[in-house]
Amino acid sequence: MVDYVVYGRGCFSQLDEIIAPRRKETRPMIFLIDHFFTGKPLVNRIPIRGTDKIIFADVTYEPKTSQVDKLAQQLKDEFGSISGIIGIGGGSTMDLAKAVSLMMTNPGSSADYQGWDLVKKPGVYKAGIPTLSGTGAEVSRTTVLTGPTRKLGMNSDFTPFDQIMLDPELTTHAPANQRFYTGMDCYIHCIESLQGTYLNEFSKSYGEKALALCQHIFLEKEIWDDECDDKLMMASYAGGMSIAYSQVGVAHAVSYGLSYLLGTKHGIGNCIVMNHLEEYYPEGVREFKQMVTRNRIDIPTGITAGLTDDQFDAMINVSLGMKPLWENALGKEWEKRMTRQKLRELYEKL
Ligand SMILES: NC(=O)c1ccc[n+]([C@@H]2O[C@H](COP(=O)([O-])OP(=O)(O)OC[C@H]3O[C@@H](n4cnc5c(N)ncnc54)[C@H](O)[C@@H]3O)[C@@H](O)[C@H]2O)c1
Ligand SMILES: [Fe+2]
Repeated sequence: MVDYVVYGRGCFSQLDEIIAPRRKETRPMIFLIDHFFTGKPLVNRIPIRGTDKIIFADVTYEPKTSQVDKLAQQLKDEFGSISGIIGIGGGSTMDLAKAVSLMMTNPGSSADYQGWDLVKKPGVYKAGIPTLSGTGAEVSRTTVLTGPTRKLGMNSDFTPFDQIMLDPELTTHAPANQRFYTGMDCYIHCIESLQGTYLNEFSKSYGEKALALCQHIFLEKEIWDDECDDKLMMASYAGGMSIAYSQVGVAHAVSYGLSYLLGTKHGIGNCIVMNHLEEYYPEGVREFKQMVTRNRIDIPTGITAGLTDDQFDAMINVSLGMKPLWENALGKEWEKRMTRQKLRELYEKL
């Protein structure tokens, strides 16, 4: 779990004092900030000292193992070692920061660690500061990376942040569509966790709270205001805590295949899949569709039209490789329920 958490509007201003005890001699702190903030006032609030460095994270595409390896190598070449890395941005930037922290101390390529419990050493100090709410990347024990052969996280006890700062003010100007897609990532985490076979009281307690927050902001509120940003940030946290002790399910397993082959982004990919999952999550899908309509969001359709058999196979392989997700969703006998043919039919609907 994350060691330290601060929450509150404006808490970003405490960053300097919070990281001060983590500074090691003259080694720099690295601030990895989402490229959206280039030239924005937030950059001037970053507490730069000594040889500290700001790096803008290019998140046009979701994080790749090659991108992580390159960033870590650059830092090793320039500084030898660093005091720590602070990721400021959406799930992509936070995941990059987590992965780079681990690759500052673990040998080889980040692709070697895609899987469960393969990371052997703690990384350098790492802190996460979300500027979009929903992924739960701020609390999770994974960092999702696309590698040469698969899209899979570095899931390990060393992956969670040492510190997170939850400042809802940082999400204020997120575009409505992006906010919705990332917010639905959280909603879908709740449904997949609460309907999953891995469910336990820990996951349930957090999942129910996150679900209630999502329902309030996406179904009851008339306009989007500060309260919505405050609540969505806590929903993301609680939703992430819920899956930390269980797993995600069908929407994620299928959306990972889309993302691997077509580069479909996580939030929107989950929405595209969720739209067709009545068979698995009837109540959740009904409510999801209400949220889409009420918030006037378009969910793309027809994105797999014209794909070849090989391309469908590639997606099916990535998806069926996510065994824990399927087991959580469908139980130990999941392979009997989700055959390649059935999954192909589902992909064709998207
Ligand atoms: N580690 C985990 O547990 C976990 C869980 C779910 C998803 N993820 C990962 O998170 C990523 C998705 O994250 P995301 O949905 O937060 O989006 P993102 O980080 O990919 O960002 C989406 C877009 O929003 C922009 N953006 C970020 N903050 C903004 C702001 N405040 N205002 C305006 N624009 C802003 C970014 O520049 C980018 O263009 C995927 O890579 C996914 O794999 C990780
Ligand atoms: Fe997710």
